[in-house]
Amino acid sequence: MSLLEEYTRIREHTIAICAPLAIEDHVPQPADFVSPPKWHLAHSTWFFEQMILKRFQRDFQEYDPQFGYLFNSYYNHVGERTARVQRGHITRPTLQEVLAYRAHTDKCMLQLLRQAALAPDCTELIELGLHHEQQHQELLYYDLKYILGQQPLFPAYGGDTLRHKDRNAVAGWIDMPAGIYEIGWEGDGFSFDNERNRHKVYLQSYQISKALVTNAEYLSFIQDGGYSRFELWLDEGWAWVKENAAKCPLYWQQRGADWLIYGLDGLQPLEELSVLTHINYYEAQAFATWAGKRLPTEAEWEAASDQLPWGARWEWTGSAYLPYPGFKIAPGAVGEYNGKFMVNQMVLRGASVATPAGHARTTYRNFFHPHLQWQFAGIRLAT
Ligand SMILES: [Fe+2]
Repeated sequence: MSLLEEYTRIREHTIAICAPLAIEDHVPQPADFVSPPKWHLAHSTWFFEQMILKRFQRDFQEYDPQFGYLFNSYYNHVGERTARVQRGHITRPTLQEVLAYRAHTDKCMLQLLRQAALAPDCTELIELGLHHEQQHQELLYYDLKYILGQQPLFPAYGGDTLRHKDRNAVAGWIDMPAGIYEIGWEGDGFSFDNERNRHKVYLQSYQISKALVTNAEYLSFIQDGGYSRFELWLDEGWAWVKENAAKCPLYWQQRGADWLIYGLDGLQPLEELSVLTHINYYEAQAFATWAGKRLPTEAEWEAASDQLPWGARWEWTGSAYLPYPGFKIAPGAVGEYNGKFMVNQMVLRGASVATPAGHARTTYRNFFHPHLQWQFAGIRLAT
């Protein structure tokens, strides 16, 4: 597929994710970590305008000079911007105006993509813009689920319900011998800077589960007093439990003796054999301790990845998000993409049912703050 075809396919997919939403669903920001769908539509467009068109399109005129202030996410190189927590306050431009901004930017991008020879750094930035858009497609699912799932009537999304009832197809453990393994990206094709450089690691022998933790297993942890036993939790995790009066994963509700769960198809009885989702790092760690196991490190995950069925849930690892040997922050705005977030976050490996097709790979390093639950994350145990 040509870059132009890829561009068209990926940009259209973002619109398709939002298609089942009402105009009103595009605006609210019910929590600081959620961005409104309208903001995603505009911000992913701004990325192409700011990083590519401004630099590579001759005599390019910004669509609206004020949009940078509204839709820049975190790029200090680019300039001042709206506070993240205020994204839901933006009712103007309207959704229709944002869609017109997208259409205009797409027209300019397609003009650029039709040019006979693009400079290699231009092609590289367009690829980054497309992978960036795909990351926002996944965030759109997290955010629209939270926007709908926090409402009194728990409305269904009306689009793809993302197989939240997935079950494990396999069971048992993989025995991994001690030795030197190589992890990280090397070769042609796209990778983010945080996946490089490929390097050697020494691993002690370990076992890693073929299956992800199920709702039934997590329910046993809850019923065994998991959320009231401080000894299972890291200190920060226990503080999080107390502060939030946490009793179960996000989107779970207890009604008498029954448990319900909110999915994109609405509020439903909890299916015990389905794979667990929406737990934070603290919960994953406490569950692993309760089970007498631990979370794998990211190197252990990657070394075993060709034998693992993965892709249903992002899998919390026990690894802090840190630079690989040889990692360098690129100059300019693109250098702000990954490197500056390498503090106080944990790595997740694999992919989830919300990850767009073609976006995942075994070297991919996702990362979130340890208290966040709204991403589609689950647990794979190691020992
Ligand atoms: Fe972004």
